[in-house]
Amino acid sequence: MGRIADDKIEAIRDRCDIVEVVSSYLPLKHSGVNHQGLCPFHQEKSPSFNVNSARQIFHCFGCGVGGNVFSFLMRMEGLRFPEAVRRLGEKVGIEVEEEAVSSDEIRRREERERLLQINEVAGTFYHQTLLSDESGGGGRHYLRQRGYEGETVRAFQLGFAPEARGVLEKHLLEKKFAIHVVQQSGLVRPGKQDRGHYELFRNRLLFPIHDLQGRIVAFGGRVLDDSLPKYINSPETAVYHKGQTLYGLYQARDAMRQSGEALVVEGYFDVLALHRAGFAGAVATCGTALTADHARLLKRYAGKILLIFDEDAAGRKATFRAMDALLPVGLAVSVVAMPAGEDPDSLIKTAGEDGFRRCLDAARPVLEVFIEDQLRINDLSVEGRARAAEQVLERIRRLPGDLERSLYLQQLAGLTKLDVELLRSKVSGGSLVQPQVRRAVAQTLPRQRPSAETEKTQKYLLRLMLVNDQQRRCVREEGTEGFFLDELFRGLAEYLLEREDEDGRLPEDLFDASLDEAHQSLLASLKFQDDQGWADNPEKILSDCRRAVSNYLLKRRLQEVDRLEEEARNNNDEAALMQYLRERMEINQKLKKKL
Ligand code: UTP
Ligand code: MN
Repeated sequence: MGRIADDKIEAIRDRCDIVEVVSSYLPLKHSGVNHQGLCPFHQEKSPSFNVNSARQIFHCFGCGVGGNVFSFLMRMEGLRFPEAVRRLGEKVGIEVEEEAVSSDEIRRREERERLLQINEVAGTFYHQTLLSDESGGGGRHYLRQRGYEGETVRAFQLGFAPEARGVLEKHLLEKKFAIHVVQQSGLVRPGKQDRGHYELFRNRLLFPIHDLQGRIVAFGGRVLDDSLPKYINSPETAVYHKGQTLYGLYQARDAMRQSGEALVVEGYFDVLALHRAGFAGAVATCGTALTADHARLLKRYAGKILLIFDEDAAGRKATFRAMDALLPVGLAVSVVAMPAGEDPDSLIKTAGEDGFRRCLDAARPVLEVFIEDQLRINDLSVEGRARAAEQVLERIRRLPGDLERSLYLQQLAGLTKLDVELLRSKVSGGSLVQPQVRRAVAQTLPRQRPSAETEKTQKYLLRLMLVNDQQRRCVREEGTEGFFLDELFRGLAEYLLEREDEDGRLPEDLFDASLDEAHQSLLASLKFQDDQGWADNPEKILSDCRRAVSNYLLKRRLQEVDRLEEEARNNNDEAALMQYLRERMEINQKLKKKL
């Protein structure tokens, strides 16, 4: 997809009214200068979701999300930026023509479109067969026997592929699809030695796999007895990449957004069972390991992932592979243990919703489970524990949050009985590749969460930077690391500096596609406040921020000195002891002076 010209994006944004767009999804009420409603992105009873018509932005004071009209549509519909722009363009009558689309690209699009049509026709055919055709009796019987009714069948558009040969092929050809195109879908394949064609699915219960627009991109099919293979799946095609597709996401995403949680299970039936039992935010990978693409997809809808895999060696392996995909994108990941031999579908049948709920409540952070597993695999000798620690440290390094890194280090130290400072040095030192750390400053500053108070100060300064060119220049000249302790805040500050024009002024609309969701939300929350009274003068805010940073560094050093002092005392190292005592005094004096 070509890049959309900036002036076009602006024209579309100018013609859209965010109040109108949001209102088409949820009722809004006038309240002061804002419009308010119940936030569609988290569960709430009283409205904290605000839309500001003058600024054309939204912000939820409950869950913190926010942005402009494009961000809203992206979140709401799971679209990428250019898609959101195009969709709104259509609405206001501005066509987003595509820049220089090659004839190859046009051909690829047509192929994708045809495949989607074929899947749709096939899906309807299979669905009807299961619902009412005589040849679908076996499928109906099987489902009923497993306790599934029409409601689930319809919600997931389940289908049945009849036993007889050639039925689907005939149906598709009647609908005027060319046979070679039908073959591309994988649903009908050429037979050996020109003995006609045969269908991929026969006498199987079918699970259509939907994309985020609800279009069928593939099918999975289960036999009705114990024969093998139990499941077969559509091949990968131009519209189906299993590494980027999650079964059930189309049906689950609203529930995920509401609860902030996603359940990841192994099988098609598990998704159905959970959905029916009221755990609607459940998805399965389509017979493949969880990938980084899956992780990013899930992150659009949920912040917390609950992994529910079989309690066997393969299940554990899948769990930790999923962990490796999920943790680096900043998702919180927990493991739900099932009783041996059960999966969610079977457990709900035997233990009911309450039994399953109890399992969910007992979920444990995945790294905790991983640490235990590593200690079990390796022996308890020093080398064994070091090996285990090395494995765990590799994961801890990839955690994007400072607080979590610190917590897990402590836990690891406790379980391995290795020194926490040694482990810490292994995490921050070394030749580690850390894709999350883009700027050098991120490494020179302490990685810890600032206090609520310094957070407030930093936000003040950011607000100031939004409205005051002079203060922004100050920050630019001294460097953001002297003012901002928190990576999120510093990131936004740097972004603002990047967006300045030659005259050092900020553009009207700052919600650029390059800004990630966390920063967009922060920006929206600041914009919602920037007309409220200023308690302090700008100079004071700047110096408050400077002081917060240096105090923080001093306090951190003080903690270190505490430890070093203790060590020196244990070693009877008088000289070192004196030196640390002196340093402590100096730091304390500095801290006092600054307060
Ligand atoms: P399971 O063998 O655990 O089956 O495979 P299941 O989902 O519990 O199904 P039921 O309850 O026995 O009917 C888990 C998942 O692995 C994939 C499917 O996606 C399945 O849902 N799978 C399994 C295949 O793709 N092919 C197979 O042959 C088996
Ligand atoms: Mn099962």
